Amino acid sequence: MRTQVGIIGSGPAGLLLARLLHLQGIDTVIVENRSRDYVLGRIRAGVIEQGMADLLREAKAGERMDREGLIHEGINIAFDGRLERLDFPEHTNGKVVMVYGQTEITHDLMKAHIDEAGGIVHFDAPAIKVEGSDTDSPRILYEQNGRRRELVCDFVAGCDGYHGVARRSLPADKIKTFEKTYPFSWLGILSDVPPVMDELLYAHHARGFALCSMRSHTRSRYYVQCNTDDNVNNWSDDAFWDELRRRLPSDTADSVTTGARLEMSITPLHSFVAEPMRFGRLFLAGDAAHIVPPIGAKGLNLAASDVYYLARALLAYYKEKRTDLLDRYSDTALRRVWKAIRFSWWYTSLLHKFDDDPMSRRLQISELDYLTASDAGQTMFAENYVGLPFEKFE
Ligand code: FAD
Ligand code: DHB
Repeated sequence: MRTQVGIIGSGPAGLLLARLLHLQGIDTVIVENRSRDYVLGRIRAGVIEQGMADLLREAKAGERMDREGLIHEGINIAFDGRLERLDFPEHTNGKVVMVYGQTEITHDLMKAHIDEAGGIVHFDAPAIKVEGSDTDSPRILYEQNGRRRELVCDFVAGCDGYHGVARRSLPADKIKTFEKTYPFSWLGILSDVPPVMDELLYAHHARGFALCSMRSHTRSRYYVQCNTDDNVNNWSDDAFWDELRRRLPSDTADSVTTGARLEMSITPLHSFVAEPMRFGRLFLAGDAAHIVPPIGAKGLNLAASDVYYLARALLAYYKEKRTDLLDRYSDTALRRVWKAIRFSWWYTSLLHKFDDDPMSRRLQISELDYLTASDAGQTMFAENYVGLPFEKFE
């Protein structure tokens, strides 16, 4: 089988790329390890930056997001017995974020790309490796129904997440990796209860970090910092709600509505970057090339900014025979990636409990005091949270 752009992975990066290319008349085939239902069942990110929302509209997959997504103009931070709000529009010339789940985005992209446009996605078809990325005809070797198959392409996009095969298909001496593991994880619950506040609440507490997020007016997503060796089986629903409430200001804790879990999971935290993001005709995008700790909700949004650059570079190649944007893809994408890696690392360090050292805790509180009172601090926070602009790329 042959296609113009072979894509490994039908997460947000792979689907969005396929959709944007399809709208420009460029053929793609996606091979996906898992079933469609499995991919749609994963509970992940929930905050969409304006750049990603615009890209979903460009992909003609933003209609439901615009109808059902919640526009948020700020966040709340609790620390040292105080509750402060940081406003976005005031510090970013009117920018906001959209609260709309990754699960819904994946659903909307699959409907538009597969059900309506007839785009080809082979589910239950794990890629084994990419060959010939330094030739004009790179190949994805994959398995389907127990048989080995080959997809010959002009280009391969490795959108197969952190554990995928695209990055691993390259010789180790061609890739430089940077990695940081944090000494804690997040325990998250999804429940059909109304959110405790209208906007997200990030809480710094002596017992550890907590986050009150949401997916809609009737569905909440809450997290508490936990140990890396913790296990969801150690947590009843009641134990989760008790621990969450202990970490919130008392008025807020009293108004938390509790309910049965729809899902509960533990997410380890780490930062990871692989450089470069391009090898010959193989391009990495999204989690295949980089991971951020979840705070600040940058992972999904970075996958979208990679796709923004990659789709434009491929379009310039097919429509104008230009290769300069393909050549610049890795450097341009990585500049934005590193800024998000920095922000996520800083925000993680600001709000989590690392140890029992009282000095570290007082330094965090002092920084939070500065951040929430300073106009410069609020501007730095707001412009990173709503998402740094995509570089001009044409
Ligand atoms: P993925 O969504 O990982 O998609 C990769 C796809 O490739 C998957 O469908 C996978 O099945 C497929 N694949 C893998 N290997 C192969 C193979 N060999 N062959 C074929 N297909 C393959 N981000 C936030 O911003 N906020 C959050 O709260 C948040 N929570 C998260 C919680 C968890 C548990 C995880 C894992 C991630 C979370 N993230 C969060 C990160 C965010 O979900 C990711 O950054 C985002 O999914 C990246 O999209 P992607 O398309 O690059 O990768
Ligand atoms: C969510 C996760 C985050 O890390 C964050 O900063 C905001 C929201 C969420 O899953 O809803």
